[in-house]
Amino acid sequence: MVKNIAVIHGDGIGPEIVDEALKVLNKVAELFGHRFNYTYVDMGGCAIDKYGDPLPASELKKCLESDSVLLGAVGGNEWNDVPANMRPEKGLLRLRAGLGVYSNIRPIKIWKQLAEASPLKKSIVEQGIDFIIVRELIGGIYFGEHKTEGDTAIDVLRYSEYEIERIGRIGFEAAQKRNKKLCSVEKSNVLDSSRLWKKVMHRLADEYPDVELSDMLVDNCAMQIIKNPAQFDVIVTENMFGDILSDEASMITGSIGMIPSSSLGATACGLYEPIHGSAPRIAGQDKANPLGTILSAAMMLRFSFEMAEEANAIENAVSAYLDAGFRTADIMSDGTKLVGCRECGKLIVHNLRKD
Ligand code: IPM
Ligand code: MG
Repeated sequence: MVKNIAVIHGDGIGPEIVDEALKVLNKVAELFGHRFNYTYVDMGGCAIDKYGDPLPASELKKCLESDSVLLGAVGGNEWNDVPANMRPEKGLLRLRAGLGVYSNIRPIKIWKQLAEASPLKKSIVEQGIDFIIVRELIGGIYFGEHKTEGDTAIDVLRYSEYEIERIGRIGFEAAQKRNKKLCSVEKSNVLDSSRLWKKVMHRLADEYPDVELSDMLVDNCAMQIIKNPAQFDVIVTENMFGDILSDEASMITGSIGMIPSSSLGATACGLYEPIHGSAPRIAGQDKANPLGTILSAAMMLRFSFEMAEEANAIENAVSAYLDAGFRTADIMSDGTKLVGCRECGKLIVHNLRKD
């Protein structure tokens, strides 16, 4: 198959981790007889420096014309003082909205080899950590009106039934394919938007009788993720709650550097990115963990290109790498072998097999 991939290196560690993912994709293409064409797109701080805009229309257009988008990370201290609507992150939000990718899936699964790297007690880890967070990605407070008037700042949180319903369906459908348990997370004891959220979820539940729906307040959920992560199968939640809970949840798997994500909308063209940020402190030092990006590329193959076998091959290569005891600095522990970003990518390529 021939696929056209828009590639966004971004800022900080973005370029390093994306380069390793491309090496892995190239090897997949070679082994499985595909062709991946890459179109490079500037977004984030680097685009501000080049064009004075974190996502110029011409760059968004390249993404819209591609079969999918692979992204590293954007942002950095250099751009802290630019006007709010010109920040690097604004480029990312405009990209997500421009692609219409309302459904962001963040798999929170601990690799058995990384049980030691989890900060949780062994007895909790042993019960299993394997759930997904379905995060609404193009609505809510991220996309409401933002303004500052004198000494007052305002951010508007708005959700319509339509927006809640379409992400709710993704949550129910994901649960149907897994252990049939959906936990809807909101703050309905305080927020109107959360009360609407809960109402819509319960209305949808009638259409998915095989799925057991539960409700949880977001503060309680933050606690439950630490206390008893094994209780979760699928969590569905709004944009900002999903952002916060996914950083928290990633940590119990050992490192945020391991977690990939997919973002999809009405078409097969998705956006694939690790959930971590641009880590400016370690940028350019060959210390970053590229696995979140490499596993995001695997999700792209599975969800956008219907290449499940190829995606499995990448995941198996990652597993073999972990089995052999290699670790980047974020998940180093006694008795493991420290590798840099490039070495990690090289080892994954080396481990790739077509069965
Ligand atoms: C994420 C990031 C982004 C978000 C930032 C960079 C805008 O934290 O993908 O989780 O908040 O969505
Ligand atoms: Mg985040």
